[in-house]
Amino acid sequence: MSRKKNLLNLVDKAIKKYFQESNTLQFLADNRYNRRIFSTTGQYDWFSGQLLYFLVRHTKPKIIVEISTSSGYSTLFMALGLKKNGFGKIHTFDMDAKALKAAEKNFKKYKVKKFVKTHLGDARVEIDKIKNLKHAGLYFLDSEHTEEFAQWFIEKLVVPAKESALFTTHDIMPVYAKVRKYNGPPWTFTNLHFYRTLLFKFKSKVEGIDLGLENLKLNIKKPKSKNGLYVYDGNEGSEPSFGNKLVSYMEKGEYLYCYDIADKYAKLLQSRKYDYFARGFQNEEGKPYEWNHSLWAYSGAVKAAYQKFLLT
Ligand SMILES: C[S@@+](CC[C@H](N)C(=O)[O-])C[C@H]1O[C@@H](n2cnc3c(N)ncnc32)[C@H](O)[C@@H]1O
Repeated sequence: MSRKKNLLNLVDKAIKKYFQESNTLQFLADNRYNRRIFSTTGQYDWFSGQLLYFLVRHTKPKIIVEISTSSGYSTLFMALGLKKNGFGKIHTFDMDAKALKAAEKNFKKYKVKKFVKTHLGDARVEIDKIKNLKHAGLYFLDSEHTEEFAQWFIEKLVVPAKESALFTTHDIMPVYAKVRKYNGPPWTFTNLHFYRTLLFKFKSKVEGIDLGLENLKLNIKKPKSKNGLYVYDGNEGSEPSFGNKLVSYMEKGEYLYCYDIADKYAKLLQSRKYDYFARGFQNEEGKPYEWNHSLWAYSGAVKAAYQKFLLT
């Protein structure tokens, strides 16, 4: 059986089996921008969070590796799944001591502390202190969004992993996605995104991290109708282009973009319930819109695609 069928079936089965538990996660979505709980805020959207939880419930991993924790938002979806399963451990890494402290407070508050082991420091160093990560059932990447870091993650964790282990990464959209951010594109000096990009460029220069922003070529699409808006595919920086390159080596269906399936579960999971809440994220009509920018694949598919990538 192809991996394609396995992944799509697996997701569907996981959702159909556990959708009723979705209400136990809503407090997370309700508090996504609550800085007293999540001192740092990622854009881990409602549907991606639910899917993360359902797949943890369904596949029952004994070990999960997460890079990175930040203040624990994504970790909590997984930890609540493990708690309900009754076993399992997340090894989660972050180099931001303040954010990790907030995360630890949250793990205690939401009674999942025994399912999470935090590791402070550069994940590329700390990872070697943990054994048996090749037996993990889920590898989660949402960290430094560079190709270099993603390649390190794949080589270090996904290549040695079981073929059936799941891999997921955040902040990646299919190339045909049509989205907007901070009222653009186009971005002008009146848009917040314009300043954010300048700031990131400056930061990446100072910190010596190549975010791929210097040569950033955004896939901007012209509006089709007179009153339409400019859109782009939502991919910025070197990590999403690398991720999409890997996807281009996979067979259709061996991978899964949350962007593609969020609407399918609008009724069952209320996957669009928090769209109005999405800050800065919009659809092609300029309305608040969760992009659902996560990619899922089996480790085996990622490994095979990465080998093809290396050969080209
Ligand atoms: C987008 S945030 C993670 C968001 C988190 N998953 C959530 O749901 O809130 C990225 C995090 O990666 C961390 N990070 C970046 N480079 C790292 C490295 N080399 N080792 C460990 N953590 C790193 C940052 O400190 C930051 O907290």
